[in-house]
Amino acid sequence: MEHLVIQGGNKLYGEIDISGMKNSALPIIFSCILIEEDCILDNIPRVSDVENALEILRLMGAKAHFIEKNKVLINTKNISENICGYDLISKMRASSYLMGVMLSRFKKAFLPTPGGCNFGHRPIDLHLKGFKSLGASVVCDDSFVSISAPNGLVSRKIVLDKISVGATINMILASVFINGTTIIKNIAQEPHVDDLICFLNRCGAKVSREKNMIVCDGVNKLHGTSYKIFPDMIEALTYTTYLGITKGEILLKNINFSHLKFSSCIFEGMGYTIKHSNEELKVKINKIPFGTSVITKPYPGFPTDLHPQLASLLCFTKDGGIIKDEIFPTRFRYVNELQKMNAKISNIDNYVLIKPSKMRGATTDATDLRAGAALIGAALGCREESRINNVNYIVRGYENIVSKLTSIGGKIKIIKGDTKNGSN
Ligand code: UD1
Repeated sequence: MEHLVIQGGNKLYGEIDISGMKNSALPIIFSCILIEEDCILDNIPRVSDVENALEILRLMGAKAHFIEKNKVLINTKNISENICGYDLISKMRASSYLMGVMLSRFKKAFLPTPGGCNFGHRPIDLHLKGFKSLGASVVCDDSFVSISAPNGLVSRKIVLDKISVGATINMILASVFINGTTIIKNIAQEPHVDDLICFLNRCGAKVSREKNMIVCDGVNKLHGTSYKIFPDMIEALTYTTYLGITKGEILLKNINFSHLKFSSCIFEGMGYTIKHSNEELKVKINKIPFGTSVITKPYPGFPTDLHPQLASLLCFTKDGGIIKDEIFPTRFRYVNELQKMNAKISNIDNYVLIKPSKMRGATTDATDLRAGAALIGAALGCREESRINNVNYIVRGYENIVSKLTSIGGKIKIIKGDTKNGSN
């Protein structure tokens, strides 16, 4: 157990290198099960979800380890037909991708129901319905899922009932080796979907996306490759929310601006000055930001994964705002924590109403990854010291957040023990 101690009140100035995108790295790492040769993946963030995904592959008999700071070598030639690492799987949402890859390679997948971030019900019904449409039989209860297609999967046209990143990715993973053409409609268009498609095509797959449709022409085999993962748009946007809280100027390096366009417009509307090239984003703000109201939507809309961080920022604005989460309508456990810091925030149904607040430092609990990121933002804006428990959630998805913030003037340190047992 560790906790963060943050002494807020400093403006932030400097440069931050944005890491590779966790939500691309995870499906791409699991997709290496489809490839029986060496794959070298670059720009892989060293976050605990990635370490756990590599550990699952190793437990199954694969070679999967860092060969450089952010470069991983994976070879799954000798992996077992049986999934291992049940404890890790049940803690990680992205382990659901094991269903698609194992079904593709071994015609069967038996695993614990995938876990994930702690912000409400995370069903997998769309994934299972998709596998059934491709000819698999599925048996599942609250604890385990068993999927099999002993005679192989069959190409079909699938229309997802709802836009889902996970289900879209699983349908791609399941379709790569199916004879004929599989069409997937009403898909998620997040950059991580395109990242996976680029990687698989580099390995010899024939997958294309046009707007909300994916066409997959089956191939017999994939070959190894080297591939660099896209930058993490949520990490870049999280630091952008911090700047509005603290004021200052930061240069975010190694970004892909096309992924940040929509959200950048929202920040400009709040009073930020934003300059960019394709790979760098300079954000500046030296006044109290204006409020805003957003509804989370699938990409290219406002990301649900930025909702809690924006809520923190709104506490520090002139006029507050409303955030409605249409993707995860119960993603509000951070609200109680912000209230401990004197936030005037209330949750009604699937939205939060936030008024400008006189925030003050407090001890809070990160309730999930993005909630933890939001509490860091709030703490950076308070002159008093704040302490945040449950750092384990935050290190699931933010590489080197303590050293990155320190390098731009944040006063933040990580301390052993949580604040409750008194061990510092
Ligand atoms: C992924 C991301 C997560 C992000 C989310 C939405 C990973 C590891 N996680 O999660 O960070 O917040 O996309 O951008 O990449 N749904 C169903 N049935 C299903 C699957 C989903 O009803 O079988 C619903 C969900 O409850 C939610 C919506 O579909 O309301 C979108 O969820 P989805 O895009 O699938 O999220 P994940 O892939 O789990």
